[in-house]
Formats: sequence, C-alpha cells, structure tokens
Amino acid sequence: MLRLSLPHLDEAAIDAAVQVLRGGQLVQGVEGQAFEEELQARLGCRHAVLVSSGTAALHLALLALDIGPGDAVLVPDFTFPATANVVRLVGATPVFVDVDPASYCVTAAAFGAAIEAWRGPARLRALMPVHEFGHPVKMEGVRDLAQRHGLRVVEDAACALGAQCAGRGVGTLGDVGCYSMHPRKTLTSGEGGIVVTDDAQIAQRLRRLRSHGMERGDGGVRFVEPGFNYRLTDFQAALGRAQLPHLTDWIAARRLLAARYRERLASLARGGRLVLPADDIGHSWQTFMVVLADGVARDAVIRQLAAQGIEANLGAQCVSAQPAFAAFAPRGGSAEALRLFRQGLALPFCERYGAAEVEQVARSLTRVLEAV
Ligand SMILES: Cc1ncc(COP(=O)(O)O)c(C=O)c1O
Repeated sequence: MLRLSLPHLDEAAIDAAVQVLRGGQLVQGVEGQAFEEELQARLGCRHAVLVSSGTAALHLALLALDIGPGDAVLVPDFTFPATANVVRLVGATPVFVDVDPASYCVTAAAFGAAIEAWRGPARLRALMPVHEFGHPVKMEGVRDLAQRHGLRVVEDAACALGAQCAGRGVGTLGDVGCYSMHPRKTLTSGEGGIVVTDDAQIAQRLRRLRSHGMERGDGGVRFVEPGFNYRLTDFQAALGRAQLPHLTDWIAARRLLAARYRERLASLARGGRLVLPADDIGHSWQTFMVVLADGVARDAVIRQLAAQGIEANLGAQCVSAQPAFAAFAPRGGSAEALRLFRQGLALPFCERYGAAEVEQVARSLTRVLEAV
C-alpha cells in the first residue's frame, strides 16, 4: 500500500530517543530544554513551549489569554475539529467563518465581514487563523483587524511548521502560535505540540498550565492555579530535535513533489474532473489535497484507489456540519467549507516520495475518474 505519508525517522533520530530511554531521565530533561531553545532560534520567537499535542497547544493558548465563558472566537469552518473543540472546552463560543476555495484558508476580508456581522451577546475576543495544510494565511490583514477591534490572534499552525508569510515563520505572527507534531506532520515526535509567543507573561502562564499550575521559587514549589499535565516526554523531544535541522530541505522536497503533482494532474484539472490546490511561495505543503468535481462520489474514489494499493483520504472537516457544533452552525452554512469537506481528496504526500509515486497515483486516479 502506498501510504498517505510516512514519518521520517532516520537512525540518528532513533538513536537520540534510545539514548534518552537508556539514560533514564524520561521527562523534564535536557532534550526538551535544548529543543525549545533551538525552536526559538529557528522560528525567531522569544518563547517556545513544548506540550503533549497540537490540541494541548491550542487549549493552553486560549487559557493563557484568559478566553472563557462569555467570549466568542472566530474560527475558520474548514479545519480539523480541534481548532473549534478547544474554544468550546474553555467555555467560549466558536463563530464559524467560511474559507477561500483556492487556498482552503480563511482570509482577513472574511474575518472582517464576520466581525461586522457579529451581534453578540458573547464578546468577540480572538481570531484563530488556520494555516491549512501549510498554506500561509496573509497575516498582515489579520493583524490589522485584530488591532482595530482589540482582538487577540491565536494562529493554528498545526500543519504549518516551517511555512512563511512575507518571509516570517507562520505561528510567530500573532499573540500565540500553535504547532502539532502528530505523525502526519512534516516534523513528528509521535504525539506532540509547540506553543510560541514573544510575551514573557503569556509564556510563564503557558509553562505553569502545562505542568499542574506549578511554579518553582526560592520558597520551593507552589501550585498557583489549576493546571494540566500537558508535558512532552524527553525522548519525544529528542526525536523532534533530531529532525529540526532537516526541516528546510524536507519542505523544499515537498515543494518539488507538489509541482510534480500539479504538472501530472494538469490534464485532469483542464478536463474539469478536479481542481488543484493553490500554491504560495511560503507554503510548507504538509498535505496535497485536490477537490473533485461536484457529483463525483469522493468516498467511492478513496475505495477504488485503495483497491489499487493507494491510500487516500478526505482533507479536513466542515466543522459546523458536525453534530458537536450543530448549535453553532452559521445561518445558510459555509458553502465552500462544505464542498472542500465533501469533495476534498488528500493524496499520498511526503518528502520521501518522488516522481515514481506521483506517476503511480496519477495513473490510478486518472483511471478511476475517467470511469465515473
Ligand atoms: C489544523 C489543526 N489544528 C489542530 C490539530 C490538532 O493537533 P494534534 O493532533 O497534535 O492534537 C490538527 C491535527 O491534525 C490540525 O490539523
């Protein structure tokens, strides 16, 4: 089976994790601290805080900004549900905003229209742009909006470690940025997440909430507020740390693979059978998702590709169409997000694939789509 993606753990990464296991300091050791410092240097931010998942990163980001009951947060309607789950989990209201059909991302214009249309009663507190599949949201417009309306910006860069907007790393362009290190991501620690910020007070709060609400001082340990155990283990940090120096090369390889796919699938696009994803100079290409023509049964295409040894999947959800968020669905729904959810097809994609895999997928996909 040609897998959707493969984690990229070379012998050096595995050795680094094994060394931690043999050493016996499994949590809160030197690997975690070194990885945080290296992430700060790589991303150009003051504070990087390792956590146990991308979801934990988003959860702590909202809590550290004191977002809770009585507050509302603008969330794109095409994403993984974790983005909206955390809004509900802190007791706030998610306000869903439709996305751009080409980039699959929310735009500042759509956020602006939603702000103008918002009538409460919850108080708008934050914008959560999602850099979907690594495509960077244009952050300048988002930041301007936030400033004008006194809102916070929490970037969901779960898929977008290494993506850039105007030459700067996405995730470092709002108040707080969140990344995931799940195995489908370019850099993986199994499970894992990173929260970044330039604000020392927010960073202190993130670290405290990550570890039971605990602070160490001259007088010893104090538990200042209720917190979680959202820590990353040191052997996971060692895995991530070993991959970080390769990230730039891996993204370059992914750009090349995306270009190959675009070229090889161009005739299917010209024939109206699918739409190719938008490119962007700062795209980190975590996922390559095409959008099948309306009327093509996407799930049947997934089954037929599987029968030919190719794993494919849907891309992301239209979150407001899920039962958990029925009470928050926008009037009239989110037409673009719904179409991307129903017709989106993620194809096998990672830096270890090349021309042969693209050829295999393109041939099978052409056969399948020409038969419908
Ligand atoms: C956009 C987005 N946000 C959040 C998450 C959650 O990350 P994790 O699976 O590490 O909890 C994901 C995971 O796929 C995601 O794609």
